[in-house]
Amino acid sequence: VMPSINLIAIDGPAASGKSTLAEIISKRLGYFYFDTGAMYRAVTLAALEKFGDVDEELHVVKLAGSIKIDVRPPTVEDGRTMDVLVDGKDVTWQIRTPQVDRNVSKVSAYAGVRKAMTEQQRRIGERGQMVMVGRDIGTVVFPDAAYKIYLEASPEERARRRFTEIIQRGGSADYDEILASIKKRDEIDSSREVAPLSIAADAHIIDSDGKSIDQVVEEALVILTPQEKM
Ligand code: DC
Repeated sequence: VMPSINLIAIDGPAASGKSTLAEIISKRLGYFYFDTGAMYRAVTLAALEKFGDVDEELHVVKLAGSIKIDVRPPTVEDGRTMDVLVDGKDVTWQIRTPQVDRNVSKVSAYAGVRKAMTEQQRRIGERGQMVMVGRDIGTVVFPDAAYKIYLEASPEERARRRFTEIIQRGGSADYDEILASIKKRDEIDSSREVAPLSIAADAHIIDSDGKSIDQVVEEALVILTPQEKM
């Protein structure tokens, strides 16, 4: 297998700061930032629209195998980092609703869904020059990625960040509720049978607890220095 020299894999738990890090790194390198969680969200959305819920595993898996999900650089300037398309239809914002949030962990635990999404992610990743963000990129999707970063942060730190984010946007939030939901998602994500959240043996671990975004980016750039020179 050819090593994927121009692929950077960033994995880690929910709200660990992966997307912020990936956005900054991809801009710096002129790479495309591919958030693979969007794919599981797109399947969830499609299932909710078609069935009303995501409970029938066989139906959801069949659906996942029959739709084409694609991503591309943003064509609309509304704060998005990429366009997400399902069978050509733009679903970039529809996949970010609380209803999708509530159902996506279940969908991403279905083995058949993961198989279908892994195939689609490899198809897209092969375009190269990409920062791919997810839970299993360095372990399953592209185990030969040139660079692997695993971004860690404690549940409390992640809950604090999400809380601040919501408050800053003018919303209202309950810290304890956010913390509980982060812990619950961690548990689902790391205990599922297929591709549980785990750290690749050759991943560089960055612990972002108590660090600023700039500090995390600095640490990542040290790891990626050979990449910058290419
Ligand atoms: O990062 P996010 O919140 O958009 O991820 C949505 C869900 O998809 C989350 O439950 C984890 C899952 N996911 C996954 O299992 N594998 C990936 N490569 C990316 C996301």
